[in-house]
Amino acid sequence: MGNPNKAKAESGIMRWVDDRFPATQMWQDHLSKYYAPKNFNFWYFFGSLAMLVLVNQILTGIWLTMSYNPSAEGAFRSVEYIMRDVEWGWLLRYLHSTGATAFFVVVYLHMFRGLLYGSYKAPRELVWIFGMAIYLVLMAEAFMGYLLPWGQMSYWGAQVIISLFSAIPVIGPDLTQWIRGDFLISGITLNRFFALHVVALPIVILALVVLHIIALHEVGSNNPDGIDIKAKKDESGKPLDGIPFHPYYTVKDIFGVAVFLFVFMVVVFYFPEGGGYFLEAPNFQPANPMVTPDHIAPVWYFTPFYAILRAITFSVFGLDAKFLGVIFMGGAIAVLFVLPWLDRSPVRSMRYKGWMSKVMLVVFAVSFVILGILGALPATPLRTAVAQLCTALYFAFFLLMPLYTRLEKTKPVPERVTG
Ligand code: HEM
Repeated sequence: MGNPNKAKAESGIMRWVDDRFPATQMWQDHLSKYYAPKNFNFWYFFGSLAMLVLVNQILTGIWLTMSYNPSAEGAFRSVEYIMRDVEWGWLLRYLHSTGATAFFVVVYLHMFRGLLYGSYKAPRELVWIFGMAIYLVLMAEAFMGYLLPWGQMSYWGAQVIISLFSAIPVIGPDLTQWIRGDFLISGITLNRFFALHVVALPIVILALVVLHIIALHEVGSNNPDGIDIKAKKDESGKPLDGIPFHPYYTVKDIFGVAVFLFVFMVVVFYFPEGGGYFLEAPNFQPANPMVTPDHIAPVWYFTPFYAILRAITFSVFGLDAKFLGVIFMGGAIAVLFVLPWLDRSPVRSMRYKGWMSKVMLVVFAVSFVILGILGALPATPLRTAVAQLCTALYFAFFLLMPLYTRLEKTKPVPERVTG
């Protein structure tokens, strides 16, 4: 019965299943016979942690939805009700809100690993592009989720971001109204954001994660040396520098999960508001379309891009500053999609790249952090000037990459992984 070429259990219930569904084959392809490089390090914890956080968001989200009311009249009150009256409601909410922050911490570290070891380079371009698509949808997911508590920052944060679309020439104002579904942000907007946040976008994220992993397992994982482990195999065809993902990396990842959960739960129990950066102070007041908060800032994971938006204070070629800011902000994300084609280095890993790549990566990372800090603060002329410099450095990292990766002298790459 079934396809005889597929790996199957000898007998028993698993054999019955294997004759009808490739369970053993899939287990082998993706775990017990998926050979991963033996030199994975700290940076390789974050893919599995991203999956853990995704599961946390979905589960706590489902339970929050059971008590949440997606209407302008009831939303704020229902969140208070969850916090005070629903059994363990406070824990569900804090796991979900802290989970959003943890998601971005983990994903930013996961992406940085890609930059460090050139994991986006051929043949992993699609792994990277699926990853970028996840990142984009994740940002939309977090943005829409933030409107749901219907606090002051929910309302005014959404107001600032949605109004950016009005800067687009010709179609801007109509587009803005179409997104809101009303002349201003209202219960209608809240309701559609709720639908997208709890149903549509999670499905898209899950599907993209599956595509991300399938693409990765098709070509195999990269490693800190950036070398191809399939180039050196033993007589039986197993990579000499590879070890089966299960049990070796499942055990390593469980250790990562334990450490992560320890830190995560300390935040959930003791610092759930994150000093006003994870849950912002104005969001403890109900949304009021008549009163603007003193200082509107997005949640920390958006602030680098918000700082880029605000850094564009001038108009060029008749494009006004706001629209240009939107273009730069979009460009800052779009440029990451084409990264695999900007890097012309003959080597993947930063270990063997030249000094220019190393300096540029540090400059980029520092600029990104400074932009993140500036985006959370009210603008002053000095801060705007610093944000402009950091924006220039952010783009220089990418746009000059085809030059410096070709000009610099790289180190010889070893034949086998170095550990
Ligand atoms: C929900 C979000 C995500 C999940 C669950 C996820 C999951 C994973 C997992 C499990 C792996 C294999 C283990 C590892 O190498 O750490 C991986 C690898 C990878 N991911 Fe992601 N990922 C996510 C987002 C992203 C994003 C946003 C990017 C970049 C734009 C990205 C780029 C990559 C790359 C390049 C690899 C291969 C790394 C290598 O082999 O060196 N991922 N991902």
